[in-house]
Order: sequence, then structure tokens, then C-alpha cells
Amino acid sequence: MTAAVAVPSVQITSELPGDATAVEALVARAFGPGRYAKTAERLRERASFAGGLVARSGAGLVGSVRLWRIAVGGRPAHFLGPIAVDAAHRGGGLGADLVAAAVALARKSGVSGVLLVGDAPYFSRFGFAAAPAAMLPGPVDPRRLLWLSLDGSPAEGDVTG
Ligand SMILES: CC(C)(COP(=O)(O)OP(=O)(O)OC[C@H]1O[C@@H](n2cnc3c(N)ncnc32)[C@H](O)[C@@H]1OP(=O)(O)O)[C@@H](O)C(=O)NCCC(=O)NCCS
Repeated sequence: MTAAVAVPSVQITSELPGDATAVEALVARAFGPGRYAKTAERLRERASFAGGLVARSGAGLVGSVRLWRIAVGGRPAHFLGPIAVDAAHRGGGLGADLVAAAVALARKSGVSGVLLVGDAPYFSRFGFAAAPAAMLPGPVDPRRLLWLSLDGSPAEGDVTG
């Protein structure tokens, strides 16, 4: 008799309304108290939800990324974040898969680019680069304000939700 082998599999799918509580719990665990950039939070509060991706395993939700509708210098764009992967599932490319899926979703929406506040050493591998001419509604470390253009346009001007 052949023994069944449990292959751990994780699937990335759209975030559904019923996922919100699990996403918020995952994000709270990943970031810990007070780790949020306040200006990013303020922007998300003003922006409408454009969509999210979740990574599901048999054990539940193990990764999440969200996108928000913003405008940068009057041009439609998406704001990415927060992104979080459960600690036990890090280092296997899940974060990269979530970023790629979020960028694909933004591209499909036809926006000019994706803006985020995050660590350049992580996001530069996906093509994100500093966006010094983008003006957020509050203070932000300029090294952490990053832009990926989808239509060749630079991130210039006021960022609004
Ligand atoms: C950031 C995060 C989503 C990455 O998820 P992941 O599934 O581990 O990502 P990947 O497997 O695609 O990439 C792992 C690689 O990124 C590196 N990395 C992870 N976070 C990083 C960071 N903040 N800065 C630089 N490098 C980072 C890891 O060291 C690893 O490097 P290696 O490939 O050389 O071993 C996850 O670590 C996480 O949830 N962190 C806590 C929440 C957070 O800080 N989110 C925002 C990040 S700005």
C-alpha cells in the first residue's frame, strides 16, 4: 500500500469579503504594534479598496497584500500595502508571488503605476525605485517611498486617496 504524502501547497487567490478578519489578524501579527507608517495609514483611510490577494494553505490564510485606489499628480495609480507573510512561510518566494500578483492586478486595472511605503532593499528586486517627487499627505522617509511605473510615467505631484 502506498502511503499518502501531504504536500504543503499554497494558492494565491483574490481576497474575499469574508477574509477581512483573517487578513487583519495576519497583518497585526506580522507588523506588531506601532510598526505602521502613519502617513501610509492616513492615505489608505482616504482611498478606496482596489482589491487584494491572499495566500491560502490548508492551515488557513498565510499571506496577504492589498491595493488602494489613489491618484499621483492626477493620474490614477494604486497604493500597495500592507503586505504580510506568516512567519512560518517566509523565505520561500511567497512575498515575491504576492507582489507579482498585485502588480499584475494593477496592470490589468490600467493604472499608471504602483506606489508604496516600504523597504527598498526588498522592493527594488521587483523594479520599485525611490519616488522623491511624489507628495504624500504627511511625512514619510523618502528612502521608503517607492514607485513602479506601469506606463513609463514618473511619480510626480500630490498623492491623493
Ligand atoms: C516582507 C515579507 C512580506 C516577505 O515575505 P517572504 O515570503 O519571506 O518573501 P520572499 O520569500 O519573496 O523573499 C524573501 C527574501 O526577502 C528578504 N527580505 C524580507 N524582508 C525584507 C526586508 N524588509 N528588507 C530586505 N529584504 C527583505 C529575505 O531576507 C529573503 O532574502 P533571500 O531571498 O536573499 O533569502 C515578509 O517578510 C513579512 O511579512 N514581513 C513582515 C511584514 C513587513 O515588514 N512587511 C513590509 C515589508 S517592507
